[in-house]
Amino acid sequence: MPTNLTIIVTGGAGFIGSNFIFHMLDKYPAYRIICLDKLTYAGNLSTLASVMDKPNFRFVKADICDREAVYQLFEEEHPHMVVNFAAESHVDRSIEDPGIFLETNIKGTAVLMDACRKYGIMRYHQVSTDEVYGDLPLDRPDLFFTEETPIHTSSPYSSSKAGADLLVMAYHRTYGLPVTISRCSNNYGPYHFPEKLIPLMIANALADKPLPVYGEGINGGDRL
Ligand SMILES: NC(=O)c1ccc[n+]([C@@H]2O[C@H](COP(=O)([O-])OP(=O)(O)OC[C@H]3O[C@@H](n4cnc5c(N)ncnc54)[C@H](O)[C@@H]3O)[C@@H](O)[C@H]2O)c1
Repeated sequence: MPTNLTIIVTGGAGFIGSNFIFHMLDKYPAYRIICLDKLTYAGNLSTLASVMDKPNFRFVKADICDREAVYQLFEEEHPHMVVNFAAESHVDRSIEDPGIFLETNIKGTAVLMDACRKYGIMRYHQVSTDEVYGDLPLDRPDLFFTEETPIHTSSPYSSSKAGADLLVMAYHRTYGLPVTISRCSNNYGPYHFPEKLIPLMIANALADKPLPVYGEGINGGDRL
């Protein structure tokens, strides 16, 4: 592995992407890290304040769906790897307005991989979610998701992430693009956006407000 990799991290002004950038800059000081982020409501540039002045870090405000901007960045930086954290990531919002989830999560992924094909890449990594597998029965704690578990999505968010995963696998099979996919479960920690489950529960509990829980409601997933 070269010691001077250049890595584009998309969605790095969000929760997990920013923590990934801090980790990489700390652990691999010879790497060049470029954060590409649209700065939606979920992105916060001040999160990256502590690394903004580092000579091996660059922030670029752009949309992963903007082919011209993405290609231009590849031409400027010749990245060895792309790690795609950029996504619309909130389930409730996807139920209210699925369109932007299809745009960013599926089309944006395709634009990034097209750039990887055009300019060449060592690795494209797609950050996905365990939500592509759906739910496990509460009374079967012996069951786990595995890589062989069938895709069984339950929201426009998880469907858009599953769609992107299938596209990533298709780019590997069709074009030989070197790809990996990770499907983590719920993360929590510093810089977590307050609309997500754990910070929401804590904030609501502290404010003595109701705690929203999903379950088997009349429509298969109502708030209880
Ligand atoms: N948070 C979790 O527990 C969790 C669990 C499993 C998987 N994931 C996945 O991890 C990734 C990161 O999640 P997160 O919780 O950090 O998300 P987040 O919502 O905190 O951050 C998303 C970031 O992406 C940026 N972004 C959104 N649309 C963009 C676009 N079109 N172009 C460029 N940037 C854009 C936003 O500005 C923001 O900075 C997502 O792909 C999500 O699906 C998250």
